[in-house]
Amino acid sequence: MQNTKKGTHPIQVKTFENPQEGAAYLAKRIADLINEKRDEGEKCVLGMATGSTPEPLYKELIRLHKEQGLSFVNVITYNLDEYFPITSDSNQSYHYYMHRQLFDHVDIKRENVHVPNGDLPKEEVEAYCRSYEEQIEKAGGIDLQILGIGHNGHIGFNEPGSDENTRTRLIDLDERTREANARNFGDINEVPTQAITMGIHTILKAKEIYLMAWGDAKAPAVKNSVKGKATKDVPASLLQFHQNCTFVLDKGAAKELN
Ligand code: PGA
Repeated sequence: MQNTKKGTHPIQVKTFENPQEGAAYLAKRIADLINEKRDEGEKCVLGMATGSTPEPLYKELIRLHKEQGLSFVNVITYNLDEYFPITSDSNQSYHYYMHRQLFDHVDIKRENVHVPNGDLPKEEVEAYCRSYEEQIEKAGGIDLQILGIGHNGHIGFNEPGSDENTRTRLIDLDERTREANARNFGDINEVPTQAITMGIHTILKAKEIYLMAWGDAKAPAVKNSVKGKATKDVPASLLQFHQNCTFVLDKGAAKELN
């Protein structure tokens, strides 16, 4: 059923046979945008996500760079989130993830890469989060935002309860999120209890948004986001407030939509 709440728009859904095909579709959209911007002499500002979901996308972007000459010299990136506290060189940090999964393999300029700094004294975090938002604004805003989705419907680390007015800030992680991410830390007790994340408001300001989800386990969160009402209890459902948001799904993640 179409959502009729004022200000909401239906989320577009594209379903693919498998994650590789979904990732190839999104990589092509990103490559086209980068090239369009380059032809206009402009920078392309991308909002980046971490986790297992974007891995096939980053693999495909690297392939396009190596085999088809896709260049990232005009690309500026802002990542969604980072654990707090964590040092950038820690193997579990999202700084480390982004370099290993993408940045080390393409020709992006290091000064154009931005991942929230999880290694700050706590009293500096608030001002830092404000400056992260200002930097994005100064760069002209995010042209295309990439997202994954948590089992609880989170986007970035905007856990349930995060509403559409939230900005970049420090947040307490849900137990379910810490459990899901414990695989990277070996032990749940090693997973930080907090993170710095862009807010829902920050995400909604992007000109174009693509959320990827793979596998049956994400199907309920996907269904609640697309078919349910826009509510802070399911943060991804707040993407209904955006006019140009597409979910890129494999068959498993899409299975509860029909
Ligand atoms: P995942 O995490 O890609 O590792 O499943 C997604 C998310 O929590 O946003």
